Amino acid sequence: MARFGLRVLLVGSGGREHALAWALAKSPLLTKLTCAPGNAGIAQVAECVPIAATDFDAIAKFAVEARIDFAVIAADAQLVGGLWDVLEAAGIRALGPSKAAAVLEGSKGFIKDLCIEAGIPTAAYRRFQEPVAAKIFADSLGYPVVIKADGLAAGKGVIIAASKAEADKAIDFMLEGGFGGHEIVVEEFMEGEEASFFALSDGVNVIPLAGAQDHKRVGDGDVGPNTGGMGAYSPAPVLPPALEQVAMAQFIEPTVAAFAAKGRPYMGVLYLGLMITKAGPRLVEYNARFGDPECQVLMPRLKSDLLAMLLAARDGRLDGFKPEWRDDVALTVVMASKGYPGSYDKGHVITGLEAAARLPGVTIFHAGTEQRGSGIVAVGGRVLNVTALGKTVAEAQARAYAAVDLIHWDGAFCRRDIGWRALNRS
Ligand code: AMP
Ligand code: GLY
Repeated sequence: MARFGLRVLLVGSGGREHALAWALAKSPLLTKLTCAPGNAGIAQVAECVPIAATDFDAIAKFAVEARIDFAVIAADAQLVGGLWDVLEAAGIRALGPSKAAAVLEGSKGFIKDLCIEAGIPTAAYRRFQEPVAAKIFADSLGYPVVIKADGLAAGKGVIIAASKAEADKAIDFMLEGGFGGHEIVVEEFMEGEEASFFALSDGVNVIPLAGAQDHKRVGDGDVGPNTGGMGAYSPAPVLPPALEQVAMAQFIEPTVAAFAAKGRPYMGVLYLGLMITKAGPRLVEYNARFGDPECQVLMPRLKSDLLAMLLAARDGRLDGFKPEWRDDVALTVVMASKGYPGSYDKGHVITGLEAAARLPGVTIFHAGTEQRGSGIVAVGGRVLNVTALGKTVAEAQARAYAAVDLIHWDGAFCRRDIGWRALNRS
């Protein structure tokens, strides 16, 4: 493959995809970046084509016609659904993982079994397809207990049950097809602080990327319903360099080796969700992609060429690859529309974007936005990721909120405490 003059296709439309597009657009290897379908922010750095990320055949047809050299698939639904396989079958190189390897995220039961085989520390668990035994096992673990639907459930497939009544209800609900499955994992509740760690594999070699911490609850102080993520920062003080080494040696490396041994080489990003318990780090979950909004704090810190790095992963050339990172802290605040994570308003015009983006260290990644005439309107639940670099968490946080305060639309809200765990430590 030509090393320069690459035509690259990015699939997706969220804040993560804007951050990836922004980083890919800086690559000297790039000739043209196209995004399907993109959003109003991505359109500032890429050509957007109105093809739904769910329409695999249309994406492959476009990629062939546009003579795309490399495709980046950013979201779990496409990876678990097998878009990588469809593109590669059409002769388009793509960043995976393949459908076979995306079970890393697509099946909670598969990955728990793999933890046992590979000696990866995780919560005690069992898999069930019928309720009676599941309820007995849940009861034996005590409460709270964690009930997980086996498949992808748009981040909603986990119930932490505080009592036997709640656990029984969750087990019945999920085994009767709630969250789209008929198999569950019942597991021990782990206490601790959560952190995310990212790595990149070419199927054989795997390199560390960086750590980050997300804020999943909608409300300040981590209260209220779970969301896709209301803010993040990187690096995460809960994951000092020594723990990153543990994450590689005890989690990531044995996982990549186990996938290779199973004949499902894992090529792509590994997102390791850890619980830092008193007894050490334990696996909560794996995802087969960058996190959203974690990606929005990793990309501003990445000094190396993202496109070169992802291509090296696709082509089995990651051995010896050492990405460089800025020492600065990156912090992102998600601005959402009133009602999120439930139903929310759409179509309000956003003001203040340009003034906010001119502040020092600030970059704004769009999630649910659309260009309408000369205005940009909010069309998603999560709308913007207001991101800032700073020498410290406090500086990055102050810069991000200074930018947030310049941006308005009807019904906009955000958490005001992104970064609080890191600030509490220092
Ligand atoms: P998951 O979809 O597996 O990331 O689970 C969603 C969230 O549920 C995680 O981010 C954790 O906050 C929580 N969770 C999942 N499994 C456990 C566990 N075994 N113990 C405590 N919390 C958990
Ligand atoms: N921020 C959580 C996720 O991307 O799954």
